[in-house]
Amino acid sequence: MIKTDFLIIGSGIAGLTYALKVANHLPKAKITIITKANESESNTKYAQGGVAVALDQLFDSFEKHIKDTLIAGDGLCKKEVVEFVIKEGPERIKELINWGAKFDKETSGKYNLGKEGGHTANRIVHHKDCTGLEMERTLLKKIHQLPNITILSHYFAIDLITEHHLDLKRKNKNNINCFGIYALNILNNKIIKIISKISLLATGGSGQVYLNTTNPIIASGDGLAMAHRAGAKVKNMEFVQFHPTALYHPGESPSFLISEAVRGFGGMLKTQSSNLFMHKYDSRQELASRDIVARAIDTELKISGDDFVYLDCRQLNKKKFLQHFPNIYEKCKSIGIDVFEKMIPVVPAAHYQCGGIEVNKYGQTNIKNLYACGECAYTGLHGANRLASNSLLEALVYAHHCYLSSIDLYPKLNFNKPIPDWNAEGTSEPREKIFITHNKKLVQQTMNDFVGIVRSNQGLKHASKRIKLLNYETKVLYNSTILSPQLCELRNLTTVAKLTIEQSIKRKKNKGAFFNIDLI
Ligand code: FAD
Ligand code: SIN
Repeated sequence: MIKTDFLIIGSGIAGLTYALKVANHLPKAKITIITKANESESNTKYAQGGVAVALDQLFDSFEKHIKDTLIAGDGLCKKEVVEFVIKEGPERIKELINWGAKFDKETSGKYNLGKEGGHTANRIVHHKDCTGLEMERTLLKKIHQLPNITILSHYFAIDLITEHHLDLKRKNKNNINCFGIYALNILNNKIIKIISKISLLATGGSGQVYLNTTNPIIASGDGLAMAHRAGAKVKNMEFVQFHPTALYHPGESPSFLISEAVRGFGGMLKTQSSNLFMHKYDSRQELASRDIVARAIDTELKISGDDFVYLDCRQLNKKKFLQHFPNIYEKCKSIGIDVFEKMIPVVPAAHYQCGGIEVNKYGQTNIKNLYACGECAYTGLHGANRLASNSLLEALVYAHHCYLSSIDLYPKLNFNKPIPDWNAEGTSEPREKIFITHNKKLVQQTMNDFVGIVRSNQGLKHASKRIKLLNYETKVLYNSTILSPQLCELRNLTTVAKLTIEQSIKRKKNKGAFFNIDLI
C-alpha cells in the first residue's frame, strides 16, 4: 500500500504542471505521480505545432484569439471558459519559460509565432516541430529536483477507489468521494492500493480507440473510463477531432503527424491529379479549421477513390522550413520523400478527444476530492471542435486552477476510511491472449468504419450493436482472468467507444467535428 497526500495519474503536461506547483507550494506534502509507461511517454511528448497564446499585442489580441476559438467550437464553447483560458495564457507560458522551456525566437529576440488552421493571427509559440518534447523535458527536469515528488513509472491505474469499494452493495452513484486508486505494478504484476487525500486524473486522450490515429499507444481513455465507472459525468464524446494531415505510410502505427503549422507555413493540399481543392470548401482554404479540412479531404478521397491526398511543400523556403520543421523533414526523408522534390502523401487520422470528464473552473469533477485536467477533461473550452494548439494551453491554465483549488482543500482532508485491499476479479491466466488483441482490433475497426469523420444513423446503430457485444465479451474476460494492462486497456477502449457512439446517437444537429449525413 502507498499513502500519499496528492496522487497524480499521468505524466504529461497536465499532471506534471500540477505536481510541480503543488510540490513547490507544499514542501512537506507527499506527492506521487504514477504513469503506465516510462515517465515521458504521453501525447504531450509528440506535440509538434505548439501552444496558442496571444503574446503579440500589436498584430494579435485576446479578443481575436477568443473569437477564433469560438468560431472553431461552432457555438458550443463556454464563453466564460474561453475568455479566462486565453487571458491567462501569457502568464502560464512565461512561467514555463522561467522553468527553462526554450521556444524559438526571431533574430530580433521576439518569439517566432507560427500559424495554424482557424487562427487569424500568428500566435503559436513553438520549439521547432517538437514543442511537446521540450515541455516534457523542462517539466521532468524541475520535478526531479523536488524531493517531495515520487514518480512511479510502469504502474497502471485500474480503478478509482470510492464508497463502492467500502460498501460493495452500494448502487447509488451520488455523493461519492475518491480515496485513491488500485494500480497494477506492471513490472511484478502485483495490484496495490494507493490511498490519497486528493487525486488528479491527467491520463490524456483516447485516440487509440481508432485504427488510424496520431496518438501513441498510451492514449486509451483509461482515466475517462475509470471516472465513468465511478460515477463521474462524461460529456461531448461525439466530438472527435481528426487531424487532416497524418503521413500516409501504411503499416506504421501510430501515424506520424505532419503539423498543421506546415500548412500555416504555406503547404498546399492537392489531389493525386495535382489539383488544389480547398477553395471549394472554405474561403480560408488550407487554413480553415480542422473539422472542415478533414471533411474536405474525406470528400475528395471518396470522389477519387484514392487512399491519400498530397501536401505540397516543394515551393517553400528551404532554409526556413528546415529551421522550423527538422523532424518532419527527416521523417519524410527516412521513407524516401525529400519534401522539396516530392509531395507528402497525407490522410486524416483521429487526433484529439474534445469531450471528456466534466469539470468546473477549478478542474473539480462531480466526485469529491477528484480533479481532472488536460485531454481527459471536458472544460467547455473546445466546444464542438478544438482550435489548433489550444490543448497545451488548456492543460497549463487548468493545471494552475486545479492547484489553486487543491491547496485550499488539502488542509480540510484526512485519511479516515478503512480502504480494502484489491479484491481479485479473475484468477486464471488467460489461455489465449488473442481474445484481447482480436477484440481491440475489432473495436478500432468498428470506430474507424462507422464512427469516423462522416457518420450515419445506420452506421452508428451498427457500431452500437458491435460494441455492446465487445463490451460484454470484455467483461467476461475481465471477471475471469488475471489482469494485464492490455486487458484493462481493452476494457477502457470499449467504454470510450460505447460513450462516443451513445453520445453521437443522441446528437441531433451537426456541429464542428461531429457530422452525420442523415442530419443534413
Ligand atoms: P498526455 O500527455 O497524453 O499524458 C497522459 C499520461 O497519462 C501519460 O503519462 C500516460 O502514460 C498516463 N496514463 C494514461 N493512462 C494511465 C493509466 N491507466 N495508469 C497510469 N498512467 C496512465 N496540442 C497542442 O495544443 N499543440 C500541439 O502542437 C499538439 N500537437 C500534437 C501532436 C500529436 C502527434 C498529438 C498526438 C497531439 C498533439 N496535441 C497538440 C494534443 C496534445 O498533445 C494533448 O492534448 C496533450 O498533450 C494532452 O496532455 P495530457 O497531460 O492531458 O495527457
Ligand atoms: C499540429 O501540430 O498540427 C498539432 C496541433 C494540435 O493538435 O493542436
